[in-house]
Amino acid sequence: MATTQTETRLVGVLSREKAATEKEPVRISICGIEVPSVCADKVPPLNDMWRTAEKDDPAAAVAPRITHDFDPTAEFKGVDANIANPSVVSSSTYTPSPNWANSSQTAGAQSHLIDLAQEIASQVTEATYGNEPARLKVATAALELAAVIRPPSDTMMALFANMSIVSAIRVFQHWGVFDLISSDLEGITCCELARNIGAEEGIVARISNILTSSRILSLTADGGLSHTPTSLLLRSSEPMAAMFELMYTNIVQVSFILPSYFDTYGRKEPVGPSHVPATVSTGEPELEYFESVARNEERMRRFTKAMGVSVGRVPVTGMYPLERVLSTDDTDGRVTWVDVGGGGGHVLRRFREEYPVLRKGRCVVVDLGCVVDEGRVAAASGEVMKGVEWVEGDFMREIPVKGARFYYLRHILRDYSDSVATLILRNVARAMSRDSRVLVSEQLNPDGGGRTGRPMPLYAAFKDYSMLAIGGKERSLDQFRRIGDGAGLRVEGVYRDSKGTGHGIVEFVLGS
Ligand SMILES: C[S@@+](CC[C@H](N)C(=O)[O-])C[C@H]1O[C@@H](n2cnc3c(N)ncnc32)[C@H](O)[C@@H]1O
Repeated sequence: MATTQTETRLVGVLSREKAATEKEPVRISICGIEVPSVCADKVPPLNDMWRTAEKDDPAAAVAPRITHDFDPTAEFKGVDANIANPSVVSSSTYTPSPNWANSSQTAGAQSHLIDLAQEIASQVTEATYGNEPARLKVATAALELAAVIRPPSDTMMALFANMSIVSAIRVFQHWGVFDLISSDLEGITCCELARNIGAEEGIVARISNILTSSRILSLTADGGLSHTPTSLLLRSSEPMAAMFELMYTNIVQVSFILPSYFDTYGRKEPVGPSHVPATVSTGEPELEYFESVARNEERMRRFTKAMGVSVGRVPVTGMYPLERVLSTDDTDGRVTWVDVGGGGGHVLRRFREEYPVLRKGRCVVVDLGCVVDEGRVAAASGEVMKGVEWVEGDFMREIPVKGARFYYLRHILRDYSDSVATLILRNVARAMSRDSRVLVSEQLNPDGGGRTGRPMPLYAAFKDYSMLAIGGKERSLDQFRRIGDGAGLRVEGVYRDSKGTGHGIVEFVLGS
């Protein structure tokens, strides 16, 4: 196995003292911290660790291996939907079962742990200085390390703790607690909080406990509650609070009916656009998801607000080389840009800020009536969105703007099954002229999904799972190619985010 660049860099971080005899412990220190009890005969030379691991422990051969060159599909962003903060559940009282203990003590498993620790140690300095790919690597390796070292029943306990955290956040959100805690360090006592929301102090204290122990909230020196950077995101004015409500509805609430949904509709992917788990769960199966959301103005407003989260988390610009592709002809009276399902115009705003040339051309946001009405009003102030046209339209039926240079669809096709996504693309194709391009901006899952023998990055898998409720799915490039084919479109280019978020843009043109 060849020495990788990273392993060469590790020499400065990881030091290995030669054992006097083969059976004596080898002392390994990572950043000056000694890793104890590693026997010489169990620790192969660095470069051979994986080969040995695979030989000693066949299970390790298929374990997800830490890739030293950054894996662009490994978006994690420090979020782990299934594995709770390892500090939440203490294993101090746990007696590991013999099977777990044996398997975790094999040379293969130890090597894997050491690999993970090396990964963390080698990246931690850069991660703390704001290097995003390094931060992702450290977060991914730390979570995996916790998952590998934790006995199975701790894993289950952590899962239950996660459920409790989610439930407690929901109750506090409903009571407006996150808005009542001041954002300075002073905090608020449970007694004061209870008085403000008309609750009993005892129940406020119990719910607070799960949120302070999971570090969602913080405790002041005199036992009051104060904000953490995470809980600040849960104040009602924050897009993340709206996103939490959305995820709670689409994952937790929908899970109540999901087993019976599959009993009724068959054990298969929802076809949609109506009769999807989310509309079945609200007792409106005949509605499409967005019809159901749009029936309630406040719900629609919160949905649009939640969409603001993804603008911060996954890139909008910087992937597609618009400045190279766009010429002055494109902005000369012609519609340059149609943001199909563009919501409140938050994404178009980013593009116009980044590429002033777009401000010269005609830009149109097409969305449902109530959404464009709000967007038009919100965009009225300020220079960047001046001149943007807001057009009501239903992409399931027709794209009302014809012959534009670009049709841009961000986070649209993922809301739908393959047959519905193909229908939407076919409607876009009908509106296009020969030189039009379609830019689909979405998560690009690894081809083959989780069926390649290597698990999908958890973040990607969780996003895909969360789309199930509304009848949607995340796709790989192959899957995009297939729905494009069905709509008479050909993939012309693929532009992946270089920062490892897994997001990308697929460019389509009219097929032959
Ligand atoms: C998931 S959001 C994506 C918003 C935005 N493109 C973004 O990336 O944040 C889906 C958008 O599609 C709009 N939409 C849903 N159904 C639609 C339809 N039939 N015709 C037009 N727009 C629709 C919604 O109102 C919403 O703004």
